[in-house]
Parts: sequence; structure tokens; C-alpha cells
Amino acid sequence: MTPLLELDHVTRRFPLRRGQTVHAVEDVSLRLGPGETLAIVGESGCGKSTVARLAVGLITPTLGTVRIDGTPVRARMDRATRRHVQFVSQNPWSALNPRKTIGHSVGQPLAVHGLCSSGAERAARVTELLEQVGLPAQYAARRPSGVSGGELQRITVARAIAAQPRVIVLDEPTASLDVGVKATVINLLLDLRTSLGLSYVLITHELDIARHLATHVAVMYLGRIVEQGPAEKIFTAPRHPYTRMLLAAIPVPDPTRRGLTALTGEVPSAVYPPPGCAFHPRCPYVADACRDQVPLLLAIGDRTSACLRDSEIPAHA
Ligand SMILES: Nc1ncnc2c1ncn2[C@@H]1O[C@H](COP(=O)(O)OP(=O)(O)OP(=O)(O)O)[C@@H](O)[C@H]1O
Ligand SMILES: [Mg+2]
Repeated sequence: MTPLLELDHVTRRFPLRRGQTVHAVEDVSLRLGPGETLAIVGESGCGKSTVARLAVGLITPTLGTVRIDGTPVRARMDRATRRHVQFVSQNPWSALNPRKTIGHSVGQPLAVHGLCSSGAERAARVTELLEQVGLPAQYAARRPSGVSGGELQRITVARAIAAQPRVIVLDEPTASLDVGVKATVINLLLDLRTSLGLSYVLITHELDIARHLATHVAVMYLGRIVEQGPAEKIFTAPRHPYTRMLLAAIPVPDPTRRGLTALTGEVPSAVYPPPGCAFHPRCPYVADACRDQVPLLLAIGDRTSACLRDSEIPAHA
């Protein structure tokens, strides 16, 4: 079956001055099917937002292809296909024009994609969209400065669903919100997933949120996916040393994770990634081969993991 969204061996590098290059995303392949929520997790700077921006066509790959419903994303692709993948960013304040009313911002995709035939129809649809995200119709007349952070994030979600997408790429959708508000936004995302039949790419460094929402997980380290598979497998029996150490940070008593060592050390520079396995300088299982051989992502059951020592490391070490 054709995935709704696919990254096929995508690399994105950013040139810096003096001939240096940031290796933001290296050879990443992802597929998102109907009803799935793919969480992309990893420490700061590992390339999560770059993957998000590639997935929605805000930036183009240096190598590889992004496809929406089988169609390669190009600068001048048809709007009907492109609107199937919408974006919600971490910062709702910068996502909305402060000078325009909320009604204008939410109604914009309706106009851009020709989804309403009259101004009256558009206004009615904006009311409906605000209700879908739990806000009263009167909010249409307000400006972003007149609402709270949680409400603003609901408005960016309303704007995303206005385009009637099949996929929403959520880049840290709750990172800027207070703890109590976070939960209400997460519940809204869960409700909309069911009621609208949406699929999500959920970028987050909050592992408990990924655990709550995700059906699938991709773990990134320094631009590469190191482990990928069904969420339940990854969370209950992580395989890659990096995943094991990352998950050790979740503060829940779970006997299957006893003995996991928490991460130490810093993420290396994406301008000068370490040779071999990029995780080797921090890995407790490092062997000589890890220092010069880049491990391939290999299938192990229904997941993939990229570790040269995979078969030697005990399941619950
Ligand atoms: N436009 C750009 N120009 C140069 N370097 C960039 C650019 N965008 C991202 N980078 C670099 O690419 C790497 C990946 O950045 P990215 O923002 O994708 O990480 P992230 O996983 O989203 O991090 P965070 O969790 O902090 O949001 C980083 O080293 C970052 O500095
Ligand atoms: Mg980011």
C-alpha cells in the first residue's frame, strides 16, 4: 500500500561559512500509513525539526525524495496533494500573524485551497473548526495577543485541520505549554485523530507523550535513525544502546527496564560527526569496529536497529 507520507533515503545538509557543513539529516527513510502516529524522538539537535520541515516541503532534501501519497514533493506540485500534509509548529506565537484576526488565520487555508465558495460559507466553517478544537465562535474576532498559549496552539491545530489533511506533522506541539494545558492539547490531538481519521508525525523530546500517542517510533541520533519500530516494542524492549539509555530517563517503575544506564556526555557536533557509529563515544558497549564502521539499519523482527554489536548485547542489559 502507498504510504501517506514517505521519506526515501533523505539527506539534508546545511552549508556554513568556511566550507563547513552541518549534517542535519543523513539517509533517513520513514513511512507513515493511515491511522498511524509516528513519534520521532531524540536529543536536541539530532535533526527532528529538519525532518519535520522536509516532510511538509518547507525545505528540500540535499539527497533523496519525500513523497505525499506516492507523489514526490516538488516546489511546484499541485496544491490538492500538498494540502494532505499540514504542519503544527512548536511556537504558536510565531505561527500566526499577530495583526490578523484568528478567524482570518483559520480561514486562510480554506481560501488558499478553494474549499469554500463564499465568504459566508467560510465564516461558518471557521466557527465549526474553532468548535472542533474546543473554542467558542467569538474567538474568530480576536487577535493572537488576546488568547492564552494553550488556546493559541488549539488555533494552529484548527488551521491545520481546515485544509482537510490526512497527515499532520506536529513539531513539539506541547513544548511551550504549561503541564496542565499540555494534557488538554494531547487529548484534543487524540480526539481529532479518531474523529477525522488523521495520521500524525509527532516530534517530541517528551518521551511520556510519545508513549501515550505513538503507534510507531523512530529514534534519531545525530541526523540518523538508529532504531525504528512499533511503539510498544521500542518502549518495552529497546534494543539499540542509545534507545536504551534515552528511555532510562522516563521516570516510571518498570521491571523490564531495570538496570538501564542513563545517558551521559554531550551530543557531538553535527558539523564534525564522529566516524563510524556516531554514538560510539558515549556507548557503554563500544568495540573497535564501532569507531570506523557506520552501522546499517538492519531488520530484526518488525523493527530496525543500527548497531554493529546488536547480537552480542543481551536483551535486557
Ligand atoms: N538552517 C540551518 N542552517 C544551519 N544549520 C541548521 C539549520 N537548521 C538546523 N540546523 C542544524 O541542524 C541540526 C539539526 O537541527 P534540528 O533543529 O533539526 O534539531 P532538533 O532535533 O529539532 O533539535 P531540538 O530538539 O533542539 O528542536 C542542528 O545541528 C542544527 O544546528
Ligand atoms: Mg526541533
